[in-house]
Amino acid sequence: AFKSHPVHLHHKHPDFSSLQELPDSYAWSQPDDHPPSGGPIFASESVPVIDLDDPNALKLIGHACKTWGVFQVTNHGIPTDLLDHIESAGRTLFSLPVHQKLKAARSPDGVSGYGVARISSFFPKLMCDVIEAYQTEVKRLAGRLMWLMLGSLGISKADIKWAGPKGNFKGASAALQINSYPACPDPDRAMGLAAHTDSTLLTILYQNSTSGLQVLREGTGWVTVPPVRGALVVNVGDLLHILSNGLYPSVLHRAVVNRTRHRLSIAYLYGPPSSVQISPLPRLVGPGQPPLYRPITWSEYLGTKAKHFNKALSSVRVFS
Ligand code: SIN
Ligand code: FE2
Repeated sequence: AFKSHPVHLHHKHPDFSSLQELPDSYAWSQPDDHPPSGGPIFASESVPVIDLDDPNALKLIGHACKTWGVFQVTNHGIPTDLLDHIESAGRTLFSLPVHQKLKAARSPDGVSGYGVARISSFFPKLMCDVIEAYQTEVKRLAGRLMWLMLGSLGISKADIKWAGPKGNFKGASAALQINSYPACPDPDRAMGLAAHTDSTLLTILYQNSTSGLQVLREGTGWVTVPPVRGALVVNVGDLLHILSNGLYPSVLHRAVVNRTRHRLSIAYLYGPPSSVQISPLPRLVGPGQPPLYRPITWSEYLGTKAKHFNKALSSVRVFS
């Protein structure tokens, strides 16, 4: 039987292509925020792009995690044509009839996909094959990235029991979230996805050739993460923030929309096995470094976050 992580489809806002103007009810207003497409005109800094074949990759990744909480990777081992295929699978999914898409709609608090239909039941076979192939590759990459990200903090395989005897994080939980951002007639007044941090260990994001992802950089403001052909974006999530005892901050990010182009992104949300409690790694705790967070499972964490950040979360709208 086809085995897959849950796949969620996420419409970031309705398709406005038939309208001349943005309906007022979708206007984005946060007075202390930049207009979505604004941000610094001359961004003096850009999110690091790291070649995994670079002998210095470990050091570069550690530095990027400490200072940005996000980086892009190239030479990551996932063939570009598989990325092209998963993108067209994503497009096909969004073109399915509404009643089929609804089965994969994201539950309001569902970041990790509990209780969401698995894709095998109704998606075309060819698409399942592509999604399965992508999930196999991206899961392997996520495990490799975990060791690279933690390796520069001196963490080795013996330090994380739940990574399993082979250290390949076999029991990790994950979900694939496919995001569609239709072109919007008034991009300055709309927001594709409100600012948030990911509730994951890490997120691996594929974005098609249309930009939209922005990360908040202290002292600079919102910085656009430009699509790089064949590259993947890696975010530090909240659980890695906890695991690293605050050394790797989870990055605040958002997605803006575009006047003329439809944007698609595919997020691989990666976390620990559901029974595992995440807490600051003992090696990163000591006399001068008290543990900053208490042990917590992924689902407990999601529950707590939803309670505290209900307002922020509710600004994410799901459409079918
Ligand atoms: C996300 O943060 O889940 C998606 C961001 C993007 O579409 O670039
Ligand atoms: Fe995100």
